[in-house]
Amino acid sequence: MREEGPVTPVTLPEGNRVWMVTRYADVRAALADPRLAKDWAGKLKPGFEPDPVTGYLGMHLLSLDPPDHTRLRRLVVKAFTARRIAGLRPRIEEITASLLDAMEGRAMAGADPIDLIESFAFPLPITVICELLGVPAADRDTFQVWSHAIVSSVVSQEEFLGAGAEMFHYFTALLAAKRRSPSDDLTSALIAAREVGDSLDERELIAMLFLLLVAGHETTTNLIASGTLGLLTYPAELERLRADPSLLPAAVEELLRYSNPLNHTTDRFTVEPVTIGGVTIPAGEWVLCVISSANRDPSRFADPDRLDVGRDASGHLAFGHGIHYCLGAPLARLEGEVAFDALLSRFPAVALAVPESSLRWRPSSLIHGLETLPVRLR
Ligand code: HEM
Repeated sequence: MREEGPVTPVTLPEGNRVWMVTRYADVRAALADPRLAKDWAGKLKPGFEPDPVTGYLGMHLLSLDPPDHTRLRRLVVKAFTARRIAGLRPRIEEITASLLDAMEGRAMAGADPIDLIESFAFPLPITVICELLGVPAADRDTFQVWSHAIVSSVVSQEEFLGAGAEMFHYFTALLAAKRRSPSDDLTSALIAAREVGDSLDERELIAMLFLLLVAGHETTTNLIASGTLGLLTYPAELERLRADPSLLPAAVEELLRYSNPLNHTTDRFTVEPVTIGGVTIPAGEWVLCVISSANRDPSRFADPDRLDVGRDASGHLAFGHGIHYCLGAPLARLEGEVAFDALLSRFPAVALAVPESSLRWRPSSLIHGLETLPVRLR
């Protein structure tokens, strides 16, 4: 598609038409174009009635345009500055070490293979985001079920709405509890956040918590798991990284580019006819920017299908581009650095336990992640 029809309308299994944009330069331009908007319910379909889940949870950053987006992002961005996130490093290292201890203990007791996702790539980011938000870590398995249902492409509408409603009720109760007794967490900070007389209302708060929780782990889990798979399938790159840990920050960028935790960005809609890459998309059309293709575009990255931990992967689009650029990027990068560093130094013999061809990917269009990643540690 990238070579022959880089801006193409395709029909999805349910019959909807979506325009897919697959070249690096076009994706980057599209993501910076205000004529590709988010709020299709408000702009394109006057009188549209959102379903309960969209109504409860849909008022978040990824479904809003300026000025609402600007206002909400300003209220939350302070909590995600690179400096503030850097302060989380010791705690992230501690959580990482205890997860690796548990894996080592299980391997010593004969567990073989070990699913790296279940034991490490999922619990690390979900524990971090739960602690950041002040959500009890004991609830994280329930969150995984809800969150997977919401991002899946194969659950029924009933399951999708059910998971959304349960999350809505959970966050309503959490907010009430934090209002009664605020603590040193992001939820309490968001309740208290004020900007020139502005603050988040109840629905905006719930939607923000929902987005942070889902976006905060569904993606980072895949960076850790698919990034590890990338390294295990390029042993020379793995050895290069192990021999020279100063490569780590650049390697995380390359692993983001190469593994693409999200296949495409979230939905956008043309508010007027928009010409991208010489093709005019009419007004009122649904557009998906395929970042996994853009990040492997040979006109931007030489030999793009090869993992090269020493390459300059900056400019990759794994975190998106433009006003919706990932708010959690500093946190995701930090978690990635800590995770790869600790995993590789703790387990020098880590190896894939099954043929690569037998690995299965999750049935989601948005999320690009493995179902399981069986590894041998010794
Ligand atoms: C490797 C991990 C991650 C990847 C690959 C990733 C990717 C992305 C991408 C591509 C977008 C833009 C989507 C679009 O334009 O449609 C985005 C937005 C966002 N991400 Fe991330 N993300 C990651 C981790 C995180 C984490 C850890 C958090 C929170 C703690 C987070 C919170 C957000 C939020 C709130 C937005 C919406 C920003 C806005 O609309 O202004 N992400 N992310």
